[in-house]
Amino acid sequence: MSLQVWFFMFLLSQILTGVDLQDSKPDCKTKCGEIDILYPFGIDNLSCAMNDSFIVECLMKNTSTSFKPYLKDQEIVKIDFPKGEIIQTAEISSKCATERNGTKVIVSKDISVIDWSGTPFTFSSRNKLTATGCATMVFKENNNSSSEPRVGCSSMCRNLADIRNETCSGIGCCETSINKGLKILNVSINTYYGIFGVEDINPCSRAFLVEENTFNFNTSFIKSNASMPMKVQTVLNFAVDESCGPNSSQKESSTGVGNLCSCDKGYDGNPYSELGCTDIDECKGENNPCSKDCINKPGGYECTDKSRELIVILSVLSGVIFFLLFSGSIFYFYKKSKKIQKMKFRRNNFIENRILLQQTSISSHEDTIEKTKIFTLKELKKATNKFDEARIIGEGGHGTVYKGLLLDQRVVAIKMSKVNTQTEKEEYITEAALLSRTYHKNVVKLFGCCLESAVPSLVYEYIANGTLFDHLHSPDHSYSLCWDDRLRIATEVASAIVYILSASFNTIFHRDLKSANILLDEKLTAKLSDFGASKSISSGQTHITATVQGTIGYLDPEYYQSGKLTEKSDVYSFGVILLELLTGKKPIQKDTSGEEGNIIMHFIKLLQKNRVDLIFDRSIVEESSREELGVVAKLAGDCLKLRGEERPTMKEVEFTLEGIRRSKMKHKGKINQNEKLKLISNEITMVEFSQTASSSTTNNSQGAFEELQGFLR
Ligand SMILES: *[C@@H]1O[C@H](CO)[C@@H](O)[C@H](O)[C@H]1NC(C)=O
Ligand SMILES: *[C@@H]1O[C@H](CO)[C@@H](O)[C@H](O)[C@H]1NC(C)=O
Ligand SMILES: *[C@@H]1O[C@H](CO)[C@@H](O)[C@H](O)[C@H]1NC(C)=O
Ligand SMILES: *[C@@H]1O[C@H](CO)[C@@H](O)[C@H](O)[C@H]1NC(C)=O
Ligand SMILES: *[C@@H]1O[C@H](CO)[C@@H](O)[C@H](O)[C@H]1NC(C)=O
Ligand SMILES: *[C@@H]1O[C@H](CO)[C@@H](O)[C@H](O)[C@H]1NC(C)=O
Ligand SMILES: *[C@@H]1O[C@H](CO)[C@@H](O)[C@H](O)[C@H]1NC(C)=O
Ligand SMILES: *[C@@H]1O[C@H](CO)[C@@H](O)[C@H](O)[C@H]1NC(C)=O
Ligand SMILES: *[C@@H]1O[C@H](CO)[C@@H](O)[C@H](O)[C@H]1NC(C)=O
Ligand SMILES: *[C@@H]1O[C@H](CO)[C@@H](O)[C@H](O)[C@H]1NC(C)=O
Ligand SMILES: *[C@@H]1O[C@H](CO)[C@@H](O)[C@H](O)[C@H]1NC(C)=O
Repeated sequence: MSLQVWFFMFLLSQILTGVDLQDSKPDCKTKCGEIDILYPFGIDNLSCAMNDSFIVECLMKNTSTSFKPYLKDQEIVKIDFPKGEIIQTAEISSKCATERNGTKVIVSKDISVIDWSGTPFTFSSRNKLTATGCATMVFKENNNSSSEPRVGCSSMCRNLADIRNETCSGIGCCETSINKGLKILNVSINTYYGIFGVEDINPCSRAFLVEENTFNFNTSFIKSNASMPMKVQTVLNFAVDESCGPNSSQKESSTGVGNLCSCDKGYDGNPYSELGCTDIDECKGENNPCSKDCINKPGGYECTDKSRELIVILSVLSGVIFFLLFSGSIFYFYKKSKKIQKMKFRRNNFIENRILLQQTSISSHEDTIEKTKIFTLKELKKATNKFDEARIIGEGGHGTVYKGLLLDQRVVAIKMSKVNTQTEKEEYITEAALLSRTYHKNVVKLFGCCLESAVPSLVYEYIANGTLFDHLHSPDHSYSLCWDDRLRIATEVASAIVYILSASFNTIFHRDLKSANILLDEKLTAKLSDFGASKSISSGQTHITATVQGTIGYLDPEYYQSGKLTEKSDVYSFGVILLELLTGKKPIQKDTSGEEGNIIMHFIKLLQKNRVDLIFDRSIVEESSREELGVVAKLAGDCLKLRGEERPTMKEVEFTLEGIRRSKMKHKGKINQNEKLKLISNEITMVEFSQTASSSTTNNSQGAFEELQGFLR
């Protein structure tokens, strides 16, 4: 090979490795042994380094055969300029138990404290404080132990078999991380030699600061009694306070404290040196990024290949147009499919709900569906002005009730579900199926339903005057119900319950009787509502086992315990409503001390003591007779009996109430002759009833009732 070729290859290697001889000051050495020592470091000479902290000694020590760089007497293995790291060898401290003149003594070989304060160096957080031994605790002492916690770890083992090589997790070996910015290293080892006899298997405990993932633990660290023939590596960070050279910028060190310098994009060289970084000529060599003409620019380059540029622009442009068209059409089809999906969804809901409704009603009237008007979602939308929030008249956990105006000028209440669950669906269907064949002046009328939503929406007659609950418990006492109205409402509700219990079709248990489910119209006529929880059973059955459902305060305790739902559960709830009417109080309410009290218990106690008058609503005491209130209170007490069988039937309850009302009217002289007959018979039964009501009613008296009622109808 000729000399020219050698020279060319030398040049090429210089270019490829990128080592610029200008990286350090002129006349300064840049290599010690195999290791590059570049500015801000300088070899043996202050004028080559940034300041005296950065002076590196280049020595050939006794045991070595070559020159090696040293910083503070520790050998430098590598300097990583971009990361701002110096890798140094580090000492291992040890504490060994040795025998001298027949007695065991502990010999310590501690790392002399390494103190980098006043220098630009810190121990990197990439180091781990590591200890080996079988009864060893190691600590890094802090300068100010009162303000910083001591960092350390402990390593224990009973025998060598427990130890797993290369695993440093507390058995034979432990490690702990250190915070970045550490300047002073002062390690202390505590051993427990002589306590467990561990020195027989582990004569030496050791500790050192080592770069993470460079130390492989094995049992020779435990077994050996001599100094280990190895050195570990520690990472130091360096940083500069001064500004970086031209065409470079500072960035914060990630593992140490302080700033590093790095060349700007498109520049290369030593960012610390005064000469700074120089522009990279991207167009030079075979890495030319352009296909034709390349012009190097400061920090970058430019291709002047016109036709290529044009192609690039055109392809980008057509790409953009294609993308717009594509996404436009996707959007269009998406919208369209959304619409179709919506329609499909509604249709499926409709079919599914219709089938459910049919199944729910099939046992009795097959014409339910024909009788139930089916509203479209569109009609409901129109009626509620697109479900305007201003039209909301009630909102509960399950549904929202809107006031709506149908095209035929009927005012309606529309109940829509908020949640889409199977139970919810069943409740709405039950209610629709039930109400569509119920015609009673004290049961809210269902005009129809809409089957297009997942849970059907129900359309009722609009009842203008709120609920009984509102009237009894309005916080500002804006409503007041007189006793006559209360008695009438109770009677109306009772007759509604009797009707749904015993109309020609299946027996139905309401299951959620409460004052909040009793609506009042302009004339304060009661309308029983909310049949979502209702259960229907065929005529032969007397009870059904059902999951316990209802409202606390109104829930029959027997049903609550046994899950057995009978007519008497509704009787209990009705008793609670009677109690509300008598006392004007909620079944469960806070007393003056703020504690929640159950008014039912209170009432029962007073009833037993014959002092029930203490609990009556003041406003009704004046306008009614004591006896009358007493009878109603007794009736309520009977309804609230713990054992269902001891409670009266709903028919008996209705009868008693009806009787009281009629006898009242008689006293007022407002009855006609025709009603007189009913009244007399009612009074007879009432007397009989109050005698027998507390014990269980016999079949005989039950039969007498039915007979009598049949006569009266
Ligand atoms: C240190 O380097 C400078 C040049 O940068 C040189 O003039 C001087 O002689 C050197 N000193 C020693 C002791 O080598
Ligand atoms: C080299 O070893 C000799 C003795 O073997 C000793 O006197 C001398 O100080 C050592 N030099 C260094 C630099 O350690
Ligand atoms: C280390 O143990 C070896 C035997 O295993 C023994 O010969 C030597 O004296 C011990 N060294 C010390 C310092 O205890
Ligand atoms: C060992 O004991 C002898 C005599 O008692 C003494 O002279 C010597 O200094 C002792 N050696 C050590 C290392 O303690
Ligand atoms: C540690 O404390 C000593 C004296 O208490 C003080 O001289 C030294 O500067 C402190 N070093 C650091 C890093 O706080
Ligand atoms: C040491 O801690 C004390 C109390 O936390 C604090 O007042 C003092 O400045 C600290 N000294 C050093 C050197 O960190
Ligand atoms: C190192 O730690 C020890 C306590 O373990 C303490 O006595 C000593 O003063 C510390 N050295 C330095 C230089 O902080
Ligand atoms: C661990 O390494 C030692 C050698 O250092 C070897 O003798 C021992 O069998 C190894 N133990 C296991 C569990 O691999
Ligand atoms: C155990 O580790 C030390 C230090 O890394 C090494 O010198 C020695 O060869 C290892 N022993 C085995 C058996 O691997
Ligand atoms: C040397 O320069 C570094 C970085 O600019 C600075 O942190 C350090 O304090 C300086 N050391 C001396 C002794 O001036
Ligand atoms: C920074 O780079 C630009 C472009 O290479 C060059 O013109 C300028 O002289 C550089 N600055 C310094 C201070 O070297």
